[in-house]
This record gives sequence, C-alpha cells and structure tokens, in this order.
Amino acid sequence: MPNITFILPDESIKVVDAIDGDSVMQTAVDNDIEEITADCGGSCSCATCHCIIDDAWIDKVGTADEAETAVMESAIEMTPNSRLSCQIKVTDALEGLIVHVPESEW
Ligand code: FES
Repeated sequence: MPNITFILPDESIKVVDAIDGDSVMQTAVDNDIEEITADCGGSCSCATCHCIIDDAWIDKVGTADEAETAVMESAIEMTPNSRLSCQIKVTDALEGLIVHVPESEW
C-alpha cells in the first residue's frame, strides 16, 4: 500500500495510504482533499482533478499525453508538471509520490 504526499494550496501536507490500482484522483477524493472535485468521475474530460507532480517524481510518473493535455489546456492554467490525477494509476513504484494540489480554479 503505497503512501502519497499531497501538498495542499496552503502548503499543509497530507500523507495518505493509497490503494494499488486506484487512481491518484480516487486517493485524493477518498481522503477528503476538497480541491480535487473530479466532476467527470475520472473520464479525462473535466480537469477538476488537476494536480502538479513534484519535480522529483515527474520522470517516474510521466507527463500528460496529447488527450490529457488538450483537456487541461481548455480548462486550466497548466504547468510543465501538470497532470490530471485521474489518469495516474497508483502502483508500488509510486511509493512516496509527492503531488502538489493547486488552488481550485472552479
Ligand atoms: S476527474 Fe475529470 S478529468 Fe480527471
């Protein structure tokens, strides 16, 4: 059961246990991270699960593909490490992952 560290907009830190196979979005929702509302339920169409992967982790997590980028570009202010958390699957390889949660744009 990997743990994920979420750094919230006020810089507070929330370390949570994640379930292997869940998405990072589901992990955030299950742990009451309110900024991630995940309005489309994980179908890569709303961008309300936007997160920013810590620099130390972006190579392992990978950057957004074309479809994910298109959704983000139409809805939010993207950064180079921006991802839709519903598109990141939790695996043991992500033990210790650090995710920055931006201020909600909704
Ligand atoms: S939950 Fe809608 S794009 Fe991720």
